Formats: sequence, C-alpha cells, structure tokens
Amino acid sequence: MSNVRPEMERIVDRNLAEAFIEQQIKEIKEQVGDGKVLLALSGGVDSSVCAALLIRAIGDKLTCVHVNHGLLRKGEPEQVVEVFRNQLGANLVYVDAVDRFLDKLAGVSDPEQKRKIIGKEFIEVFAEEAKKLDGINFLGQGTIYPDILESDGIKSHHNVGGLPEDLNFELVEPVKFLYKDEVRQVGLALGLPESMVYRQPFPGPGLGVRCVGAITRDRLEAVRESDAILREEFANSGLQEKVWQYFTVVPPFTSTGIKDGKRTDDWPVIIRAVNSVDATSATIEQIPYEILLKIRDRILTEVAGVNRVLYDISDKPVATIEWE
Ligand code: XMP
Repeated sequence: MSNVRPEMERIVDRNLAEAFIEQQIKEIKEQVGDGKVLLALSGGVDSSVCAALLIRAIGDKLTCVHVNHGLLRKGEPEQVVEVFRNQLGANLVYVDAVDRFLDKLAGVSDPEQKRKIIGKEFIEVFAEEAKKLDGINFLGQGTIYPDILESDGIKSHHNVGGLPEDLNFELVEPVKFLYKDEVRQVGLALGLPESMVYRQPFPGPGLGVRCVGAITRDRLEAVRESDAILREEFANSGLQEKVWQYFTVVPPFTSTGIKDGKRTDDWPVIIRAVNSVDATSATIEQIPYEILLKIRDRILTEVAGVNRVLYDISDKPVATIEWE
C-alpha cells in the first residue's frame, strides 16, 4: 500500500469528517472481512480515534488492549474503560501491569534506559495478551500522516515501540493519511469526549520521565497528584485551551521545609507550561501570578511529601520541554 496521502479534501468540519468515517467503514469492512483485529489502546488521540472507527466498522470483531503501566495521568485508565467499554461497548481487555513496570524500573535512573524498559515491557505485555486471544488476523494502529512523514511508516515513537516481532499481523491503519487536526475532527464526529480529542501531547513513557531519575512509587504519586491539580486549575482558568503542553516534574532530591513547627525534608514540585508548534522549539507560557499562587497553595496542602513549588521559566532551546 502506498504511503503517500491520496488527493483528498482537508477535513475541516463535521460534514467532511462524517464522509470520511463512512468511507473508512466501507474500506475497513472490505479489508477485514470476517477477520479479527487487535489494537493497543493507550487513550491518546490517535489510538482512540482509530479504535472508535474500528468499533463503528466491525464492532466486536475488534479487541482493544489497554495496558496500564502505572505511568499514566490521574483518571486516564478509568476514562479509557468508561468511554470504550461502557459507552462504546468495545471488547476491551484492561491489563493492570503497574507492579510489573515499576518493579522493572526500580533503581534505574538513566532516562534512555527507562524509556527502553518501558517500550520493551509494553511490547511484552501486549504480546502476552495477544497470545491469549484466538483467531486474530489484523493489528489496528493509530498511525497518522506525520508519523509516516517522520519515520518509516510504523508508529515508531515509544507509545507502542513498533510491532511485536512474533505477531506478524496485517495492519489496519484507518487514519494514516490524516493530519492531527483532521484526526481530532473525526474523533469529535465519532462522539469521543473533548477531553480525549483535545488532549495535550503526552510522551509514551508518560509520567516516568517526569519522576526524574530512579522512579519510586511515592514520588510518582507526587507527580501524578500535582499534575492533576495543575490540569484542574488550567481548566478552571481557561489556560487549558491556550497552552500547548503543561505538566509537573518532581526531581529526586529534597530540601528543608517547616510544617506544624517541625522541620521537613521533602521534594519540590516544578511547574512547566510551554507553547510550541512542533516541539522542536518552545517558549514558556507566562502564567498569571494569581493562578500560580492558587496552584502552589493546592499542591502544598494536597500533595504528600512536597514542601516547595518552583516555576520553570526556561525556553527550548536551551532547555528541552521534558526534564529528561
Ligand atoms: P523534549 O523534551 O525533547 O520533548 O523537548 C519534545 C516533545 O516530545 C515529547 N517527548 C516524548 N514523546 N516519547 C514520546 O512519545 C518520549 O520518549 C518522549 N520524550 C519527550 C515531549 O513531551 C514533548 O512534547
């Protein structure tokens, strides 16, 4: 199959999205026939839209596998289950692999090593689940056109980490000629929630690269809880619609603080909020002080093990967006 986008109108509205969906349903049905499709569903925009399209086209001949590796944001695994299993009626296998990932990552502080472990473990968990299922002939993938332009055509960034080697299935890639904004239009037309469709970029290794150095469960919890507070306050203040990517980071060192008259030895939480077009460069969002102070107050009262809140004002370059 060609990897060059065919002549097609840019999908800029609901009508065009619906026409695309109708066309894809036909094509998916033709390709899959009586076969069965397996899909790794991370809950990111691309895999979610791909899953929703496949559900429309082939219903329970699709099986989605959602691997919870413990590095997702607060509420994400629950949202995947709620939207895909409960609302869309998908065949969804939910795999709680939290202990498995965190055990493998224990004591590993090198960022690339962490990424490798997460990618490799993901493929292993996914392959194990696939082997439990009978009669799978196809692998669904949320490849989008920028992935093809940037790589060899297989979703290479760390979300899935490439195809399981021992699972040689034919690919079904219904959104592979779409740009990101078009994928979002299609997602909305398929009835996916806006919070899923307009999600900010989230790295494959997830919160793992924001719990800097060797991941511990308690510090990871501080990342997850502070991130949830930041997202809530960005939503409340309208910054959510404006800022490209925002998150918190918890570094692996502590400092002295004081609480209830006693000295504490706790972590700092770092706030990061940047604007970018394609992630190759980025400038910080100048968050209004009153919003920063509200976030500070909430983090310092609600998140265990934290006694300082810092604000990263570094652009890319010289900094990168993530801390590792
Ligand atoms: P940096 O930190 O390199 O990040 O300025 C640029 C963009 O890429 C995202 N990012 C990743 N995405 N796997 C991913 O899928 C990764 O390992 C990874 N590392 C960084 C980052 O969130 C930002 O949007």
